[in-house]
Amino acid sequence: MESSEAIRPEKMGPLVMTETWNTPGSVESWERSESIYIVRGERAGIAFVFLNDEIFRMKLFHGQVPDLTTTPAVLAESCIPHLFPVEEDEDQLVFTTSCIRLIIEKTSFLIRVENLAGEVIMQQNLTSWNPRGASHAEYDMQPDSHFYGLGEKSSFLDKRGERYTNWNTDVFAPHLPEIEALYESIPLLIHMHGELAYGLFLDNTGRSDFDMRSHGVAFTVGCSTGAYDIYFINGPEMKDVVKRYTALTGRIALPPKWSIGYHQSRYSYMNQQEVLQLARTFREKNIPCDVIYLDIHYMDEYRVFTFDPVNFPEPQKMIAELGELGVRIVPIVDPGVKKDPKYEVYKEGVLNKHFCRKLEGDIFFGEVWPGISAFPDFSDSRTAEWWGDLHKYYTDLGIQGIWNDMNEPAVFNESKTMDLDVMHFNDGRPVTHEEYHNLYGMMMSKATYEGLAEHMAGERPFVLTRAGYAGIQRYAAVWTGDNRSFWEHMAMAMPMVLNMGLSGLAFAGPDIGGFAHHTSAQLLVRWTQMGVFFPYCRNHSSIGTLRQEPWSFGEEVEGILREFIGLRYRWMPHIYNLFHEAEDCGLPVIRPLILEYPRDPHVTNLCDQFLLGDNVLIAPVYRPDTDHRSVYLPEGCWLDYWDGEVHEGGKHILAAAPLHIMPMYVKAGSFTAEGPLKQYAQEEMEETVIFHLYGAKAEKDFTASFTLYEDDGHSFAYRKGAYSQIAVEAKGTGDGLLLNWFYKTDAYKPPREMLRFALCYPFFSADDVDGLPEISLDELKEGRKGWARNGKSGAILIQVPDERSGGELRIRAGN
Ligand code: GLC
Repeated sequence: MESSEAIRPEKMGPLVMTETWNTPGSVESWERSESIYIVRGERAGIAFVFLNDEIFRMKLFHGQVPDLTTTPAVLAESCIPHLFPVEEDEDQLVFTTSCIRLIIEKTSFLIRVENLAGEVIMQQNLTSWNPRGASHAEYDMQPDSHFYGLGEKSSFLDKRGERYTNWNTDVFAPHLPEIEALYESIPLLIHMHGELAYGLFLDNTGRSDFDMRSHGVAFTVGCSTGAYDIYFINGPEMKDVVKRYTALTGRIALPPKWSIGYHQSRYSYMNQQEVLQLARTFREKNIPCDVIYLDIHYMDEYRVFTFDPVNFPEPQKMIAELGELGVRIVPIVDPGVKKDPKYEVYKEGVLNKHFCRKLEGDIFFGEVWPGISAFPDFSDSRTAEWWGDLHKYYTDLGIQGIWNDMNEPAVFNESKTMDLDVMHFNDGRPVTHEEYHNLYGMMMSKATYEGLAEHMAGERPFVLTRAGYAGIQRYAAVWTGDNRSFWEHMAMAMPMVLNMGLSGLAFAGPDIGGFAHHTSAQLLVRWTQMGVFFPYCRNHSSIGTLRQEPWSFGEEVEGILREFIGLRYRWMPHIYNLFHEAEDCGLPVIRPLILEYPRDPHVTNLCDQFLLGDNVLIAPVYRPDTDHRSVYLPEGCWLDYWDGEVHEGGKHILAAAPLHIMPMYVKAGSFTAEGPLKQYAQEEMEETVIFHLYGAKAEKDFTASFTLYEDDGHSFAYRKGAYSQIAVEAKGTGDGLLLNWFYKTDAYKPPREMLRFALCYPFFSADDVDGLPEISLDELKEGRKGWARNGKSGAILIQVPDERSGGELRIRAGN
């Protein structure tokens, strides 16, 4: 006997699913409800909300009233609606701000944005949705369109011709150009065409896709569930888009200095002795290092908030000993909580209903490192607070940084994540995991950051995360997951991290040396040379691979790595200054050339070299057995960092790059700031700052300026004004140079007596510096006032007392 099951539809052959896509139809009416403009079509409406003259939000809605709540990506304070004049005629509705015109065609519901000169910035042709809950819209693409942003994606810098999905995914392998989704989802696309750039931010935490490949003259932005809620962000420059996007979703919190030092990690340092020995080796070998990571083996059978009683029996003692060496630990904390009725965190989580559940009430269990585990529901503020508070366990031990991993969330099953029908409480507005997925990791890191801050008495916490959504920059640095020790992965890290920077993630970097597979001496050298100029700088490798601590490949390699890691520490004031800039205005620490030279056609997809800030060009070697590489220098005059060779920009050059050299160039007429070589960021020593001015000229049209931000590097006192900013200026006088400096604010007083200036590779030689005595380099190092010539580099070094009133120096050119 057969039951009806015999004729289940799927047994009758593949299902033919017809997709019908609906459009809103013509505009039928519009109204203003408080500060929101609601435009109703025949079948759906779009709500328009202007956040300021440059950003507006468009949300497709069905039914009478749009729901205008936002996801946690958007800062409430940036989301206040503003009114702008509307004009209406038979064909169009036109909204005008001081910068743009938003035009809605009534018959077609086509949406166009123009600048006030009438140039079309963006055109959205069709918004549509299907009965299964997906929506998308089509946007005009020009022959000269280029695309950037989208956070952590593989392939090259310019995303034209690519298609990507946003669905946070644990991809151990492969990280190839065809992989559409990795660990992070930042649904921000920057579209540049001609001299115009704008951003589209789709605030949807479910699966979304951006297709710049399939439609010829258009690209599409869509989502499979949830609302089609999109923000238009005006340029006209890409820099404006980045600044505005980060004003909308937040900027990085200035990290503690130790977190931008060099970090050493391995899956795993297996016991307390090994960790201590590692720290001692760094110090014995004079290789600077701030942090050692504890990967999953530090825990008691992978239970978070525990230490293994056998291998790490005395964490407090270990941490104290490390502290004396100036080394901190950052332990890993994954979201999976081991199912174990004897384990306090699990017990508490179950009893107080902190774990994600199905609608019917059953806890969702999935397998991760500890075996069967439950997952906290960070969408519930009560749970987030509980989780944050649990970190007191670590802060009581003196730990100030936490590494969040597997928070996509990763689960060892076929879908690689939580079941889509798991419900998230979402503070009383429950949503399915399908709709919430991409937010999970960010909410974990938010809970972690806030919990740490709560228990750190005014010290800045550090959180590192693998998964995230738009806005994650407010809480955590991001590393790019399980790359491999492949040259290709080293090369790919450049466009990936550069686009992350354009997407608000200013504090990001890959595992230096590569995580999986086996590194080699050359790869480790080249990757470290590049990595010390990335915002986040950690060497990490997997279990079962060749060791890749800096001394793993003999003395020559060790020596080169010491030099380059040392360089990061000497450049710390400069790098920290760029972090301050990222917090202040959202611009990334490292930048693709297109950000600074948007009119240069050679740089639209240039991503095997990058800029540190706006004036230092880094050109890593990313192929084996290579001792030369081509470098493109944009307009202006560039000086080789290593030997001062002068290059006129606007052309390619062939740079020599023996193993111990990574080509680097500084723009003539610009400053960098260096400090003392420390073994760790908070090592106490005289904080001499050296302002390096590259390529100074005596001619009257020469000017250069720079502002250096400084604070204590570890507390939140800067938010109450405890910082200083020194402005330095140089002007050619015809017969030399006038250098002056002053403190714009000086509420923070760095521990130092003297200030130093270094005129590097100047275009003139000096025969007098304001009547100061000419002294030897040694005397200079001893802290004497005066000036000296560095015979080797031709630099002119000047040392003067660091007076709050600032100062002025006339440097007279010789013949
Ligand atoms: C994941 C992480 C990796 C870590 C490993 C063990 O693969 O991406 O960095 O070492 O888990 O915790």
